Amino acid sequence: MKALITAGGHGTRLRPITHTQNKHLIPIANKLMLQYALEYSAEAGIQDVGVIINAGDTSIERAFGSGESLGLRITYIPQSAPKGLAHVVKIAESFIGDEPFIFYLGDNILVGGVQRFVDEFQSQKTNCHLVLSKVPDPNRFGVAELDGNRIISIEEKPSKPKSDFAVTGIYLYDSSIFKAVNSIQPSTRGELEISDAHQYLLEKGFSVSFSEITGWWKDTGKPEDLLEANRLVLDSLKNSVQPADFPTTTVSGRVSIGKQCAIENSIIRGPAIIGESVTIKNAYIGPYTSIGNQCEIQNSEIEYSVLMEGGCIRDLNQRVSGSLFGQNVLVKRRQGKPNNLRFMLGDQSHIELI
Ligand code: TTP
Repeated sequence: MKALITAGGHGTRLRPITHTQNKHLIPIANKLMLQYALEYSAEAGIQDVGVIINAGDTSIERAFGSGESLGLRITYIPQSAPKGLAHVVKIAESFIGDEPFIFYLGDNILVGGVQRFVDEFQSQKTNCHLVLSKVPDPNRFGVAELDGNRIISIEEKPSKPKSDFAVTGIYLYDSSIFKAVNSIQPSTRGELEISDAHQYLLEKGFSVSFSEITGWWKDTGKPEDLLEANRLVLDSLKNSVQPADFPTTTVSGRVSIGKQCAIENSIIRGPAIIGESVTIKNAYIGPYTSIGNQCEIQNSEIEYSVLMEGGCIRDLNQRVSGSLFGQNVLVKRRQGKPNNLRFMLGDQSHIELI
């Protein structure tokens, strides 16, 4: 069994963060997004992992190298342009060979890893096994029509969905998927669509089974989904701090604090994770907050947010919530006159004032 994991794509919905950073390197609960997918593969006993990257992007390889530290052998497979998920499978054919494999979208996070799905695929002995999740808004997804334990059709973003089951970003295949991806044509948006490849398998009589995700699953394509994924991962955080460690600060709930932090006169309410060498003074850190290494928060309040490495929040008189800050971002109250707002924002930045 091999794994094929995506780390390419456009990342348009996460701009401006993705102007300077690959989406799959955004931290969720202070761990790089792609690391979740890599760890799930290793936990399922898979060693050979192909990671799809945008041609010329060296950042993923710099972060994960050969994969040895995670018990993996990673092969980086460049994609000339994001031409669709079926195109991703197509260009991985020589890496996969004849082996069955799990195809995992690197921006999906789920509880409990993928071992269960690998087992179900192997016991059902089908050509393709899709992982479905019941969602309240199926018309946003590929939707599966079911008959017992088989899928009979898949419709992409239907106006009248035939079930509540969305196709998630976890797929298991044998080599018949290559017949499909080599036969289908690009869609009207110019991409080779994975739903078309699945539909091809169904129409040609290949067997397509499914598993249902019963815990949570998140596709982290949008900022609000990313904050939700951060919340869900932090919900299972373990404590790593003793209240006595920071005598002038009240720490309650599950809170993890890295080495060499300076924390004074503050309140920290978990679940929250704080990286290394962070300064927190006269501040409130509320639930579901992830703070990266070398950040600084002074005279300010923050909750349900992600502050990436080197970020600084100083002297704000309103609480920050539901926010995502890229690396080395500075947000501070201006001292002195004139009393005006002042911005220096990159392209497609997003600010909400009250
Ligand atoms: P999407 O979320 O569909 O697309 P995207 O990441 O380009 O983001 P946006 O829609 O905001 O522009 O992609 C799902 C996953 O597949 C994600 O991990 C990126 C990856 N991907 C590729 O690696 N190659 C591709 O050709 C496409 C379309 C996506």
